[in-house]
Amino acid sequence: MESRVRIRVPGDKSLSQRALIMAALAEGSSRVSGLLYGGDTESTAGTLRALGVGIPSIPEDGSAIVIEGVGLDGLRSPRCALALGNSGTGTRLLMGALAGSDLSATLDGDASLRARPMGRVVRPLTLMGARFEALGEPDRLPVTVHGRGHLESLEWDSPVASAQVKSAILLAGLTGRAFTFVTEPRESRDHTERMFNAVGASVISHATDSGWRIEMRDPPDHIRPLDFAVPGDISSAAFLLALAALGAAGDELMIECVGLNPTRTAFLDLLLRMGSDIEVHDRTPEGSTEPVGDVVIRPGGLSSTSVGAEEVPRLIDELPLVAILGACAEGETRITGAEELRAKESDRIAAVVSNLRTVGVEVEELRDGLVVQGEPGRNLQGRVSTWHDHRIAMAFSVLGAATGRAIEVDDPAVAGVSFPGFDRLLRTLTDTG
Ligand code: S3P
Repeated sequence: MESRVRIRVPGDKSLSQRALIMAALAEGSSRVSGLLYGGDTESTAGTLRALGVGIPSIPEDGSAIVIEGVGLDGLRSPRCALALGNSGTGTRLLMGALAGSDLSATLDGDASLRARPMGRVVRPLTLMGARFEALGEPDRLPVTVHGRGHLESLEWDSPVASAQVKSAILLAGLTGRAFTFVTEPRESRDHTERMFNAVGASVISHATDSGWRIEMRDPPDHIRPLDFAVPGDISSAAFLLALAALGAAGDELMIECVGLNPTRTAFLDLLLRMGSDIEVHDRTPEGSTEPVGDVVIRPGGLSSTSVGAEEVPRLIDELPLVAILGACAEGETRITGAEELRAKESDRIAAVVSNLRTVGVEVEELRDGLVVQGEPGRNLQGRVSTWHDHRIAMAFSVLGAATGRAIEVDDPAVAGVSFPGFDRLLRTLTDTG
């Protein structure tokens, strides 16, 4: 008998973070539903509370909350250091919002976040007039931000395609009322631009000879509140789509109401070219600034593929999964142009290479990627490390579930920052599958 399963995944992490921050800065009451109930959004919500914003508890079931915004000049100096936990997005976006606010605040995070580079946002925000004091290593957390109510305008050529960098600069331009122009080598996810336009801060973007340019020419004095439904996170859905592509989730899996922003969907293109059958049904609510749909996958034979720099920003968070799929596909899978992976919650190139070798897969490490030798149908085994990285934990849990259940993940609980309940859902799917 054919097995067909329908599921939903938790709210999109990128959109949840942005919705919390924009609602905090708006004038009036915002209504936000579908927020991710997870470690990273808890960190951002807690930080905004410490800055004087009344944010209710994030409900586990995605029901709506109302956030009373304090306005673009309303953030207040906190009484103690702001604890950002594992959240790189929360940290970098808030650094931007704080840079243009008349206050001082110290930001800190867990060991993984303390190891991540902050110079990429500190440098442009310093040019705008904010001051940063590193309390530990240079360009690392903890750092104290001394913001300024009014910032200088900025024309910034970002060496990396990073939505966090671009968003930090735009948020600084918003709270500091400064014109901002950012060029990135390739377009990164554009959630911030869409949300800015929805609340009355006009942002335009276009291709140029040197990449992708984003312009905020006329920062407003206040922004309107949001009425926003956060869709499911395509980056969380990706783990279950990979499980299905590996034939371990039955004949057909439907993931409902997933965000389908075109700057995030290259993993669907990749699944298709590796041999899965993918269908997308549009379910974008009327008036929504973000496209939403149901994704249906039926597994097929897996063939190898290549991912290069051009495609990387549109599936940056799914690259560990590309390596996992490559390990189970016929032939050699190559990932290049992905040196940014070394600056994530862990060095994801090193983590994936080390774990794949541990379970018995031949893999070559490149400076900017990796090459995996695939072989369908083999049983893999060993104990792998998560390196305190949620996506490494989930990627190897998927590989284990699909290849004989002999892979042990040392700390599966780290998945909770973006996907609480992941292990339970994985077990349910593989039992029915
Ligand atoms: C994110 C941007 C990306 C992504 C991260 C979320 C965001 O990081 O990897 O998971 O919400 O802006 P970079 O901006 O460092 O590429």
